[in-house]
Amino acid sequence: MKTLAKESIGEKLTSLAKRRGFVFPSSEIYGGAGATWDFGPVGVELKNNVKQSWWRTMVQLRDDVVGIDGAILMHPRVWEASGHVENFTDPLVECGNCRHRFRLDELPDGDALATDWRASRLDLSTVACPNCGQRRLADPRRFNLMFKTFVGPVEDSASVAWLRPETAQAIFVNFENVQQVTRRKLPFGIAQIGKAFRNEITPGNFIFRSREFEQMEMQYFATAADAPRLYDEWKRIRQTWHVENGIPPEKLRFRDHAPDERAHYAAAATDIEFEFPFGWKEFEGIHYRTDYDLRRHSEFSGKDLRYFDEASGERFIPHVVETSVGADRATYAILCAAYDEEPDKEGVRVVLRFKPHLAPYKVAVLPLSKNEKLVPLARDVWAAVRPAFMSTYDETQAIGRRYRRQDEIGTPLCVTVDFQSIEDRQVTIRERDSMAQIRVPIAELVDNLREKLGA
Ligand code: GAP
Repeated sequence: MKTLAKESIGEKLTSLAKRRGFVFPSSEIYGGAGATWDFGPVGVELKNNVKQSWWRTMVQLRDDVVGIDGAILMHPRVWEASGHVENFTDPLVECGNCRHRFRLDELPDGDALATDWRASRLDLSTVACPNCGQRRLADPRRFNLMFKTFVGPVEDSASVAWLRPETAQAIFVNFENVQQVTRRKLPFGIAQIGKAFRNEITPGNFIFRSREFEQMEMQYFATAADAPRLYDEWKRIRQTWHVENGIPPEKLRFRDHAPDERAHYAAAATDIEFEFPFGWKEFEGIHYRTDYDLRRHSEFSGKDLRYFDEASGERFIPHVVETSVGADRATYAILCAAYDEEPDKEGVRVVLRFKPHLAPYKVAVLPLSKNEKLVPLARDVWAAVRPAFMSTYDETQAIGRRYRRQDEIGTPLCVTVDFQSIEDRQVTIRERDSMAQIRVPIAELVDNLREKLGA
């Protein structure tokens, strides 16, 4: 990858994402819906490929992890038991002058302020409001990030429901169901991909922090003795996954949480951080959740969620190591890592160098021109390619422009049908990264593409 000005990559990606159909602001014709995003035709393919890659690694290729797909609306007691009603809060600071609201850690020197706040020694009297400059910031109040709603026609305390702020709880409340039907012995994991919602005080940085997003989470159940070792093992497994998906190792790092910053359920926690255009930020969390969640659900539901260990004859609540990565944030990191620019005769060639398994389209079929002699053959070629690979077809504008368009959405291979193809039944394959071109018989095209894509 070339050295590009970091601040500009973020802006260029946001613009490319809109222009090429990766991501649109939600409800845009009404002015947007506040930190929610819609994935467009190529964005949905990319995100689905990211999710598929995660599911394959975490479920399909493992003999010790199974999947579920839990409901978003759960019994309200779930969130009392999980501790979210009481503890899932961010410190919200309001300016007494301009009424602007901030998350404490987003003020200048925010990390130090957050540490002071946790140690009950925060003093905001000398801190200027970043919006109006006045020193009138009030002490933080705890703001719960869960969205509240009501189930049924009556809006009273008995009908309160929460939009889940993490997918993990559907796994905990199904622990016994899954263990019984699968007859799994410890250690084993349960994985899930699904929507989560957080009423973030200050969302932003494109799709990095939004109010509606998707998580890919896995809870790995083990004995207390095995859990610390497994925590380290999962850190390595998850790091490898990111590298396999095109994140350069030098753009990844672990950041262990200090005891006073861990989530309420975690005895140990580390963030996997990526160097986003706006700095190093978390995009995956690995947490040692001890037996906290199952123990609390046992207490709150009255159901005995202990595991029976046949070998020792003991009953105990399993401990849990969790891996939790945002599908949107991972997709954003992959987009940032894939973005590249290089000079060419028309100025700059923009390329998204996705790994082929993540590219929205693996192949684009392009007739050299819209000529009526070429189009039928090009359409026949696309029909032959379509069942084998996610592919697209484009006959508008000059061929050079169409190559650039495919480069910009990361299509690894273009297949060009020209006038000679009508004579010799051969087409050209053009590679995105090297721009090298080779000619192959149409009869051997699919095999050639498969070989080049490593599929
Ligand atoms: N179950 C554990 C859990 O939810 P977390 O660290 O709060 O842990 C895990 O969240 C991941 O979910 C984050 O690393 C991030 O990728 C994603 N995530 C969290 N909040 C998000 C938001 N507002 N927008 C987009 N992704 C978010």
